[in-house]
Amino acid sequence: MPAELSPIDKAKYVAARRASALVEDGMKVGLGTGSTAAWMVRCLGERVRDEGLRITGVPTSSRTGALARQLGIEIVTLDEAKWLDLTIDGADEFDAELNLIKGGGAALLQEKIVASASDRMVVIADAAKEVAQLGAFPLPVEVVPFGWQTTRTVIEELLISMDVLGRTTSLRLNGTQPLVTDEGHYIVDLHLNRIGNPRALALALNQIPGVVESGLFIDICDMVVIGGTDGRVETRDLHTGAITQEVIDVSEDSNIFKDID
Ligand code: A5P
Repeated sequence: MPAELSPIDKAKYVAARRASALVEDGMKVGLGTGSTAAWMVRCLGERVRDEGLRITGVPTSSRTGALARQLGIEIVTLDEAKWLDLTIDGADEFDAELNLIKGGGAALLQEKIVASASDRMVVIADAAKEVAQLGAFPLPVEVVPFGWQTTRTVIEELLISMDVLGRTTSLRLNGTQPLVTDEGHYIVDLHLNRIGNPRALALALNQIPGVVESGLFIDICDMVVIGGTDGRVETRDLHTGAITQEVIDVSEDSNIFKDID
């Protein structure tokens, strides 16, 4: 029931619900990964079931694919869809230019490929994800397992010349073993505290042979939908500069909470 939602879940939910209203009949939609994106997938599942909305979804992780299938959303691969109308995904941080840090859920590679193959990317987030400068959230970097320790050393050497505040790195673990992504790679998290020039860092990281991708999303996101714990939602369009605000009444949505553990 809605009363059982924590304040942060309520913020994520209202952002997800507002963004899911951007999806129109017949669209091909990239489905993000993470707790906020999972709310969005549930909202779309509800629209498919209740409104007969016809969409084709391309998931950005195996777990999002499983959730979407469970909710009756038609799923295809990106190669089958080829190009998408819209991708809706969460983020770990966003700045005023809608540059992002993503990958807290280790799905950054598929997320970046899918978002980049979309006419529009919309980020859904609670208000705490907005930052003046990126970098407090550790920056995930996906690396190939072959020679990963050498790749990590090369990354650390690169950081000496970059405008960042911290320079420690850590291999992301799943228990005691390296976490393995859907694409069979490892994640090295960079603890930078502040990233002075995200664009320069993203480009430099991508020059390192063992690096597959970083969680810096530069010039990819077009719009952010920000949820508040009080049910307020703010939408910011990067291109038009338009900002809209509304309040979503969660109490009207009791159906969607029924199946949530
Ligand atoms: C998944 O790899 C991430 O990019 C998520 O989209 C990001 O970590 C946000 O997740 P939450 O919505 O769970 O905060």
